[in-house]
Amino acid sequence: YREQDYRGLKVVVSAGPTREYLDPVRFISNPSSGKMGFAVAEDARDRGADVTLVTGPVNLPDPNGLKTVRIESALELRDAVLAAATDADVIVMTAAVADYRAAQQSGEKQAKVAGDVTLHLTPNPDILAELGRNKGGRVLVGFAMETHAGVERAAAKAQRKNADFILLNYPTREGTSFGGDDNQVTLVRADGTYEDWPRTSKREVARKLLDEARRLVGGLASR
Ligand code: C5P
Repeated sequence: YREQDYRGLKVVVSAGPTREYLDPVRFISNPSSGKMGFAVAEDARDRGADVTLVTGPVNLPDPNGLKTVRIESALELRDAVLAAATDADVIVMTAAVADYRAAQQSGEKQAKVAGDVTLHLTPNPDILAELGRNKGGRVLVGFAMETHAGVERAAAKAQRKNADFILLNYPTREGTSFGGDDNQVTLVRADGTYEDWPRTSKREVARKLLDEARRLVGGLASR
């Protein structure tokens, strides 16, 4: 397979959804399939990287030749990513992290009551932003799904979270994003420059993402 341009580099990838339990049998989540993150992890592996893949619950087996860590909640994702990230060169956050979790998680199954109920939610930590606050020389890549003003919002997000670039995708396009095998994304850099990539397989998106990230490792961006 291709050149071993990631030999000697450590790559951390997050994938899939998180599950935020309300009680032992109910949770808040989203339909992320994990396919995009698994594709990034497998492509980095094939290019010689030492890869840690931290994934929420998905219907995909552990890939060969890399370390897979299975988590459920955003707080567990945070712990696992931060632990793996200390000596990482490239971190790619494809995980669809739930923005909120239950303010209080019940240890017992909550009984049905008559009438409406109110759910108290508290914000989850933003893991990408946390990595960005302590960035060091690491390359940080995020994903974002926007329904409007995508490029501006993604550039602002990259700046706010101190990510090098964000891959922007749209929930509304046929055959892409959640669950599909293809993706159609726009690469948006923190400086506002962007590239529209054609619709292609998630593996090809992963390859191009890792090409861009590789150019940034070790501050080689401007050479
Ligand atoms: O702000 P938004 O959720 O659109 O940002 C998406 C990017 O930030 C993704 O790369 C996602 O993995 C990451 N993220 C995170 N922690 C959160 C929410 C999002 O790392 N709590």
